[in-house]
Amino acid sequence: MSGRFTPPLRDDLVGVQSYGAPQLDVAARLNVNENPFPIPAELAAAMGEAVRAAAAGMNRYPDRDAEALRESLADYIARESHVRVADGQVWAANGSNEVMHHVFLAFGGPGRLAITFDPTYSMYPEYARDTFTAYETLPRRADFTVDLDEAVRAITSRRPSLVLVTSPNNPTGTAMPLADTEVIASAALDAGAMLVVDEAYAEFRHVGNPSACELLDRFPNLIVSRTMSKAFAMAGARLGYAIVADSSVVETLKVVRLPYHLSAVTQAVAITALEHADVLQKQVDLLRAERDSLSAWLVEQGFDVAPSEANFILFGRFEDRAAVWQRLLDQGVLIRVTGPAGWLRVSIGTPEENDMFRRALATAVDAR
Ligand SMILES: Cc1ncc(COP(=O)(O)O)c(C=O)c1O
Repeated sequence: MSGRFTPPLRDDLVGVQSYGAPQLDVAARLNVNENPFPIPAELAAAMGEAVRAAAAGMNRYPDRDAEALRESLADYIARESHVRVADGQVWAANGSNEVMHHVFLAFGGPGRLAITFDPTYSMYPEYARDTFTAYETLPRRADFTVDLDEAVRAITSRRPSLVLVTSPNNPTGTAMPLADTEVIASAALDAGAMLVVDEAYAEFRHVGNPSACELLDRFPNLIVSRTMSKAFAMAGARLGYAIVADSSVVETLKVVRLPYHLSAVTQAVAITALEHADVLQKQVDLLRAERDSLSAWLVEQGFDVAPSEANFILFGRFEDRAAVWQRLLDQGVLIRVTGPAGWLRVSIGTPEENDMFRRALATAVDAR
């Protein structure tokens, strides 16, 4: 190969590294908020059958609008969040990452601004960069809640086209009360902005806490983003979706998606999983209970713990969090260095993995 050619990379991408949490083969992988339970055998068999049927018709492009899947998702939202939406209010893509990419492509862009509340999900600035959207963050309070007055002031004065609220938030686990979401939705509406509530972890919220879906009939600017990667234990399948207040938003997202973006296999697997949502919900209940007992244990041990409504816990604080992370890894427990300085995030694993984490952390901290 000639060494003389310099690829004409976009100036803003020079030196930028690709996203990637470590994927290591260790005893307890608790670093990317996956569901630790394998798909139950009966569901895996049903998925296999659905894939076989899809394979037989694979000479054809898939249903480009994923009509059957969107209908199944609308039914699921009616059961899970008690909000009935029309199929036309649902959008689906390869993970909520891709849903958000579509949203940024449609509502961001040069000369436009997205606002969110830090610390939050690390991919948002990347969607903004890819779509040439300016990106600004407002700091969350010390307890990781959002300062509503400041939020409304910023939305009113900065006039973003997109406001992002993550609830429960990653990496802090903080859920936003519905009344607060309503205030932000209203300020966004007045400013002419779309509000995206990223509910990737919604199924793990405390029982009785409402989803932002309850606001859909009052705020035409609202988009609620969800995923099957967490509660449905399907991170490997890549299926995210959005529920929108106004079906014209879905028509807009169709404009920016790539043709036939969602494979026939993905659609078939997701529909099958939705038919078995009740079985998977039992795992969610167990993970919630594990989260609450692990949080209580961390508090007992004297750590600072952010109250979590997700399938992970942010805890600290450590003078040298990288050293604690390494000591855990040395014992086969992989967690995540993320969030403000001094904090670490652990995803909720199986009861056995959580015990392994407890033992490894006790040892890691003793070794300080
Ligand atoms: C807040 C939040 N949103 C979205 C995602 C993306 O999920 P996926 O693309 O797997 O649906 C994640 C993944 O960790 C997340 O934490």
